[in-house]
Amino acid sequence: MNVQQQLLDKIAAKEARVAIIGLGYVGLPLAVAFGEAGFSTTGVDIDEGKVRDLNAGTSYIEDVPSLHISRLVADGRLWATTDYASLDHCDVVCICVPTPLRKTRAPDISYVVHAAEAIAAHLRPGMLVVLESTTFPGTTREIILPRCSRASGGLTVGKDFFLCFSPERVDPGRTDFTTKNTPKVMGGVTKACLNAGQALYEAVIDRIVPVSSPEAAEMTKLLENTFRAVNIGLANEVLLICDKLGLNAWEVIEAAATKPFGFMKFLPGPGLGGHCIPVDPQYLSWKMRTLGYTARFIELATDVNRAMPAYWVRKVQEALNSVGKAVRGSRVLVIGVAYKRNVSDLREAPALDIMALLTDLGARISYHDSHVPAFTHEDLSLSSVNDLWAAVCDADCVLITADHSGYDWEAIHQRARIVVDTRATVKPFTLS
Ligand SMILES: NC(=O)c1ccc[n+]([C@@H]2O[C@H](COP(=O)([O-])OP(=O)(O)OC[C@H]3O[C@@H](n4cnc5c(N)ncnc54)[C@H](O)[C@@H]3O)[C@@H](O)[C@H]2O)c1
Repeated sequence: MNVQQQLLDKIAAKEARVAIIGLGYVGLPLAVAFGEAGFSTTGVDIDEGKVRDLNAGTSYIEDVPSLHISRLVADGRLWATTDYASLDHCDVVCICVPTPLRKTRAPDISYVVHAAEAIAAHLRPGMLVVLESTTFPGTTREIILPRCSRASGGLTVGKDFFLCFSPERVDPGRTDFTTKNTPKVMGGVTKACLNAGQALYEAVIDRIVPVSSPEAAEMTKLLENTFRAVNIGLANEVLLICDKLGLNAWEVIEAAATKPFGFMKFLPGPGLGGHCIPVDPQYLSWKMRTLGYTARFIELATDVNRAMPAYWVRKVQEALNSVGKAVRGSRVLVIGVAYKRNVSDLREAPALDIMALLTDLGARISYHDSHVPAFTHEDLSLSSVNDLWAAVCDADCVLITADHSGYDWEAIHQRARIVVDTRATVKPFTLS
């Protein structure tokens, strides 16, 4: 029997042993999903703290309850390690390592390269490798494939080992769409690769969407997040336009959204945040620059979105000015520093940029965030205020940057002296 059939048989019998490289927002839920589907699952991470937590049955990701992990750990279906040698016992390796930007805003694929090299050192005939990290078209074929092909003295893709790209689409904080019921796009380097990848993921995920190549799958993910970044950029520009016209952007957008076809609602806000939307389009833009093409929509949306923190700082300045106060020395309470509602993730959170700008102007900043008890970011190191209502009443200006549930926004608007609300938490328009 050839190695492909052996792999397919193991997958069908749930005897394939799965390794997840990178146990973060993407890797941990995926590891739990494979464990819950009945696969023996090993998590590999360079972060000893995460490995220790997982083996103790403790979750460090809000969307994954500790109980789900501890049950799997107790049943022996999930464990974690920092040692890549554990891949010697695995049949499948899914790569979920970070793909951030460098300071120059060029892609930093060093984590993917490191993971690929470490996997190659343990690759043997019959293994399936799936890259899940978001990246530019060509990464699977140009970065992973050559390293894996050189393994074990030379292996042929599609015959000796199998390689796919399948982007993760998880939306942190969301409960209606999870790893299991979000359709999963998948492209294989060969047909045999796709067959193996599809067989595995069909055991865990309700619907697989096969595409013709890893590049098509890589591009699909970038299109999805570029679509969001560009539309958020448009919504932010609508805010700037409405501001100049003396109109309320939220009123206009909500009214437009009543059209039952041909309009999709995106809202303005403090700017882009999170690991994906501010970052992923830059991967595509960078790739296109290497081909001598400027991805104009991405560049324009980036300009608009990155200017939003400064816009909101101007709004705070104007609001304080209207009551005869300068920013310097004023107490500004920021509510919600996470990049979006109901998460604790501070990566690229625009509130951090806004707080830094206000601090530079001499404002006395404090914050409240029910999901973020304390944080350190560059020169800023703060703890969430204990008494929200005292802080609201004490502040010269309350600035709302994340609209977490659990806050009484009406009351905050009523009790604060001035509110600058980047999320329109309270319907801001009334008919007179
Ligand atoms: N967070 C999201 O919502 C989301 C959604 C879809 C796609 N993605 C993509 O998924 C990928 C992972 O994102 P994330 O949010 O899970 O990142 P994360 O930072 O939460 O987790 C990545 C993990 O990889 C580990 N790691 C780094 N290098 C490693 C190595 N060489 N070997 C083993 N472990 C290593 C880190 O310690 C960390 O625990 C990125 O490409 C991201 O763009 C993220």
